[in-house]
Amino acid sequence: MYQTQKTDSVTERVDFLPLNGTDYVEFYVGNAKQAAHFYKTSFGFQSLAYSGPETGVKDRVSYALKQNKLCFVFTTPLRNDNHIAAHIQQHGDGVKALALMVEDATDAWQQTTLRGGKSYMEPTVMKDESGELIMSGIHTYGDTVHLFIERKNYTGAFMPGFIPWKTNYNPPDTGLLYVDHCVGNVGWNQMNKWVKFYEEVMGFKNILSFDDSDISTEYSALMSKVMSNGNGFVKFPINEPAEGKKKSQVEEYLDFYNGEGCQHVALATNNIVETVKQLQSRGIEFLKVPASYYDDLLQRVGQIEEDISPLRELGILVDSDDEGYLLQIFTKPVEDRPTLFFEIIQRKGAKSFGKGNFKALFEAIEREQSLRGNL
Ligand code: FE2
Repeated sequence: MYQTQKTDSVTERVDFLPLNGTDYVEFYVGNAKQAAHFYKTSFGFQSLAYSGPETGVKDRVSYALKQNKLCFVFTTPLRNDNHIAAHIQQHGDGVKALALMVEDATDAWQQTTLRGGKSYMEPTVMKDESGELIMSGIHTYGDTVHLFIERKNYTGAFMPGFIPWKTNYNPPDTGLLYVDHCVGNVGWNQMNKWVKFYEEVMGFKNILSFDDSDISTEYSALMSKVMSNGNGFVKFPINEPAEGKKKSQVEEYLDFYNGEGCQHVALATNNIVETVKQLQSRGIEFLKVPASYYDDLLQRVGQIEEDISPLRELGILVDSDDEGYLLQIFTKPVEDRPTLFFEIIQRKGAKSFGKGNFKALFEAIEREQSLRGNL
């Protein structure tokens, strides 16, 4: 069943962890130089900053990329004896850090660790000639962490330890704007534990819930709860597998990621047709739903401003709720393991997550899963 949680008096209280949005997403990858090239070429990210031996960082290399308010960091270890190498050995390429923008990283760490959050990084002041940046962090599901980034006294390109990255290769952007939400896949019966974590440790609220009757096909199922911070800038849906005739897509992820982790990052655009055209022409592959999906689209979602034909051609999905509609599409996994993928989303009033598309979408995922022999 589908339910919108009622607002209660908790929202009247002061938000103990005010967040201004997602600061950056950091990926631990086997080859950051090539990953950065891929995200510039295919997704239209711009070179922002570089960190490595030349900047005094001896154990790793990182590339920071930017596109509007989006910032991605790709990090590779230079040797095998560190936690980055261990992370890649365990999980393959994946998301390590969902870094959140805060006014006070010391207070964010104190508030969350006081409420049971496990510290990943005590508040740390980082300085260079562009000022000071304070960073702290706590653990979340799997080996994933949340970093709290306070950059109000910092004017440099990215953060201390990085230098501006200048290059002759600057492909145009694709209209991607900011992180809409990041989804975590957790193990069997672990969803409510992590819902509680986001409620108690981070002061988030459960704004939507989907059980296996919402998210199931003939073969497989999952359950999901959407957690949101006070101002709604940061949303973390949490998925767990559910029993079906065959293997849940969440279970496939857990098998190949070798544990819990970030399943997809949803990137917002103001013009999904143009963005997806660009992404497809630059080699990004998307999941396809059957052409019949579009036959009764308007009956399902009501009137929309877009022409149906480019949506059909590109495979863009539409769903509506009480407040409007949204357009969305999902990439295939962006690495060889069936783990992390991206969602491209344009919201036109709707604050939901495309429940009306779940069935068509999950059938498309199952077709891919079946091709891999993992269904
Ligand atoms: Fe999503």
